[in-house]
Amino acid sequence: MDGFDPAHSFGPQVAPNYDEESMRGDEDDTVDFLRARAGTGRALELAIGTGRIGLPLAMRGTPVDGIELSADMVDELRAKPGGEDLQVSIGDMSRVRMDATYDLVYLVFNTIGNLLTQDDQVRCFENAAAHLSPTGVFVLECRMPTAQARPGHQFVDVQHVEVDNVAVDVCAYDPVTQVLDKQRVRIDADGISLSPISLRLASPAEFDLMARIAGLHLVERFGGWRDEPFTPASWRHVSVYAR
Ligand SMILES: C[S@@+](CC[C@H](N)C(=O)[O-])C[C@H]1O[C@@H](n2cnc3c(N)ncnc32)[C@H](O)[C@@H]1O
Repeated sequence: MDGFDPAHSFGPQVAPNYDEESMRGDEDDTVDFLRARAGTGRALELAIGTGRIGLPLAMRGTPVDGIELSADMVDELRAKPGGEDLQVSIGDMSRVRMDATYDLVYLVFNTIGNLLTQDDQVRCFENAAAHLSPTGVFVLECRMPTAQARPGHQFVDVQHVEVDNVAVDVCAYDPVTQVLDKQRVRIDADGISLSPISLRLASPAEFDLMARIAGLHLVERFGGWRDEPFTPASWRHVSVYAR
């Protein structure tokens, strides 16, 4: 998307409302799954955001550090109870190095897609691997890509239609770069607002190859946080990689 600025997607307009709009109801299951993989060890969340997952995981007793690009998202994290206690480095999750290794590194909520090239996504796997203790695991949660199957690679998905407002996602997918450009358009009495985002979509098989490049391999894959089997009907995958 010409002129797209990734920082804007999670900048001052978005960060204060992020939690309200992003809570999916599976946060407890996510924390349970991650806590089981962390054991008694430490965790690093790539793209920790407002701490939607990192803070409850820390509250349950797993020490959590984070890497995050948006200072505005980290401001929201810091404003929550316990938010000042987490060590968070501001920067790109594919490049920033923490001075530690972890038993669990995790990247959830489709956020690997915020890296818009295959090279950057591979570098992210390599960075995750570089932060793992010898027995540590990298957990990746991502939606199954579907945009390539939409006719013409351009589509509009209705998010909600109410009496006094409407929200639609206007999307264009480039099958060469695998980048989906999505514009969330909201129309209500105050006018029109736009929330753009670009995401590079990849299949689980492509992520598995990225893992191999980074010296990791797939050890578990589920269709959700409750250990649901991963099947052709799964709309997302929760993948666990180890050395
Ligand atoms: C969908 S949110 C997920 C936040 C958090 N992990 C959660 O589950 O609520 C995506 C987050 O990724 C961050 N982000 C995007 N690109 C990034 C990058 N290259 N490095 C680090 N963080 C990034 C954004 O600023 C935003 O906070």
